[in-house]
Amino acid sequence: MRQYVAAAAMIVSAVALVSGQAASPPFWAYGFTGPGPEPAPPPCATDSKPLDCARIQAARPKDVIHKLPDTDRTFAEYDIHYDFGPGDWYPGDHPPMPDIVVHGRESDKLRACGLCHYPNGHGRPENASPAGLPAAYILQQLEAFRNGTRKSADPRKANANEMIQIARHLTAAEMQTVAEYYAAITRRPWVRVVETGMVPKARAGVNGLFMPVPGNEMEPLGKRIIEVPENAELTDKMRHPRSGWLAYAPIGSLARGEEIVTKGGGRTVACAVCHGAGLQGMGNVPGIADRPASYIARQLYDIQAGARQSQLMKPVVAKLDEDDIIAIAAYLASK
Ligand code: HEC
Ligand code: HEC
Repeated sequence: MRQYVAAAAMIVSAVALVSGQAASPPFWAYGFTGPGPEPAPPPCATDSKPLDCARIQAARPKDVIHKLPDTDRTFAEYDIHYDFGPGDWYPGDHPPMPDIVVHGRESDKLRACGLCHYPNGHGRPENASPAGLPAAYILQQLEAFRNGTRKSADPRKANANEMIQIARHLTAAEMQTVAEYYAAITRRPWVRVVETGMVPKARAGVNGLFMPVPGNEMEPLGKRIIEVPENAELTDKMRHPRSGWLAYAPIGSLARGEEIVTKGGGRTVACAVCHGAGLQGMGNVPGIADRPASYIARQLYDIQAGARQSQLMKPVVAKLDEDDIIAIAAYLASK
């Protein structure tokens, strides 16, 4: 019996070697460019430390007024970025927001959900895109953040740590209300994928969003996905909730991704079995199509690393290497 177990363990580790499993989560999916500490905003909403989350917003001018097409609303840049009530450009794009989505809870320094995920819940690559997900799944994830079974595999990821703290402070009633709110939103096209060898040089800013650096300098993409706003100014200054994302992926990613996602590609099982036709979600299983590519890649790594626990997904990702994950994330985002 012991011999059998030892032999099985050897086979498993041999498979892991052959499959070339990613040794550690790659920096690009977490918004870093290398190892070691990098500037991160001070933690908001922690149990033990004083909070300083107004710092990002404070840098925004109060006297620069912005407008967007198809809305009568105008906002000062400062108010667009207000931690406890960020500007909502298009109230018609979503159901009436629960108070916690609009304001968060300032007394506990919980920033508004709408600040990171946008009022319409479509969110950004460096956080998440909860719009249109099943309410039961959202509740399950909030619970996972609370009980420690969902963390980031890169402990430097400050906004993921903040998400955990926020979830821990929510009441059961707030969780129910936000889950129903996000579930009720109809998704609009959000991500465009471009296969390329060269990308505009981009730098990850606060919280890990990549932005092209001024000067139109190009650099090789290599083995990465670099996801940037379609329009850097509209995203950075206005937080335009209809202006989506451009994911640059290595040439060949889409064809390889389609092979893996639809057939398993010899690496895993077809995703639609659980995620439904069109990968739009089924029952309590979340939709995975047209969501930010770097978010999807990050989740696959987090699950592989065990930082995010999922019994059903763990075997699905077990043998995926970095190329597979890039291909899958690019293909899903392109759907
Ligand atoms: C400071 C920014 C921030 C705020 C504010 C915030 N979140 Fe998040 N949220 C995140 C990040 C970052 C992640 C993803 C972490 C990761 O990479 O796994 C996330 C993930 C989620 C997810 C998981 C989505 C999925 O597809 O699995 C849900 C649900 C969610 N947040 C709900 C909320 C709710 C509800 C609120 C308000 C009560 C809120 N968030 C406020 C940053 C934020
Ligand atoms: C056996 C069923 C099953 C299969 C097959 C499956 N998934 Fe999943 N997947 C789930 C479930 C259930 C979840 C919800 C997370 C959990 O269990 O905690 C999930 C979650 C995810 C998430 C996280 C979504 C989010 O919002 O954070 C991603 C990404 C994902 N799956 C990708 C895939 C891909 C890619 C494939 C195919 C290669 C796949 N899944 C195949 C069941 C499955």
